[in-house]
Amino acid sequence: MLSPIDIFARSPAEPASWATGFDRSVLTIPRPHGIPTCSPCVPRRWLRVASHRTGDVVSERAGNGLPQLTGSALEAVGHRGSHLQIIASAGAGKTEVVSQRVVDLLAEGVAPEAIVAFTFTARAAEELKNRIVQRVEGRLGKAALDRLNGLFVGTIHAFCFRLLQQRVPRYETYDVLDDNQLTAFLSREANRLELRQLDPGNRLFASIAAFLKAVDVVENELLGTDPLPDPVKSVLHNYYETLDRYRLLTYGQQVVRAVRELERPAFAADIHATLRHLIVDEYQASTRRRNGLSSC
Ligand SMILES: Nc1ncnc2c1ncn2[C@@H]1O[C@H](COP(=O)(O)OP(=O)(O)OP(=O)(O)O)[C@@H](O)[C@H]1O
Ligand SMILES: [Mg+2]
Repeated sequence: MLSPIDIFARSPAEPASWATGFDRSVLTIPRPHGIPTCSPCVPRRWLRVASHRTGDVVSERAGNGLPQLTGSALEAVGHRGSHLQIIASAGAGKTEVVSQRVVDLLAEGVAPEAIVAFTFTARAAEELKNRIVQRVEGRLGKAALDRLNGLFVGTIHAFCFRLLQQRVPRYETYDVLDDNQLTAFLSREANRLELRQLDPGNRLFASIAAFLKAVDVVENELLGTDPLPDPVKSVLHNYYETLDRYRLLTYGQQVVRAVRELERPAFAADIHATLRHLIVDEYQASTRRRNGLSSC
């Protein structure tokens, strides 16, 4: 059975290191002016697509006010039964395709709670949300907006936090630290965490900066603390312990913890029972940590 990874939409700039060993069709929307857009590392099905920006599309708006998709863009909206990766240049219509796909699934009768659409920044999430709302209203009518309860559209972090809070009892009472709050937390806890040993000059903010850099690598690569040398290992260990004691999650930890939970087969099966369509926009912004989440 397929896991509910459904659609990945990304710009072509990044090499698709994650694209191996994955049952996935590839759909490309060609960059205007014929510049090739498909990464050579994606050896999958190749479909020629008409983008609205190539001039191939005559009618831009259908009667319901929705941008009229054609060719492979339309095919991506209606694609069912296997994973699909969309690679297209900036402005080619990726968000449009994934938004219309969400609406298409809803129109088909898929339950809102079976669909999760996420992206990586608050701004991109806001854009995706607005686009989906407009397309739902355009195709299904205003009343349909009241029936979207359970549909998740947002950032990957918000999705992970919701997953943890709703499904893992110990996270019910956790709060999230944003980046500024995290810096304040580190400066407050610096002595207890013995942070200054990470800077040869023993300076507070330089050691915080060095620490945050290390945390980023460790969490993006899902490394865990075991393979690390001291003093980074011991500082990180204390850091996670302290965050847990205060019942706090950082942005990075939200995803790491969700991935960890999803690695438990029973937990993953529980999620897969409801979630049937996972749609990811801006997939090029993804890291190993985030890829780990999508492939669970
Ligand atoms: N077939 C179409 N006909 C008319 N307008 C379209 C079509 N497809 C997309 N558009 C419009 O073109 C604009 C750019 O599309 P969109 O934001 O989906 O591109 P994108 O590939 O996601 O861009 P980015 O790389 O910046 O994320 C949007 O206003 C969208 O509604
Ligand atoms: Mg987009």
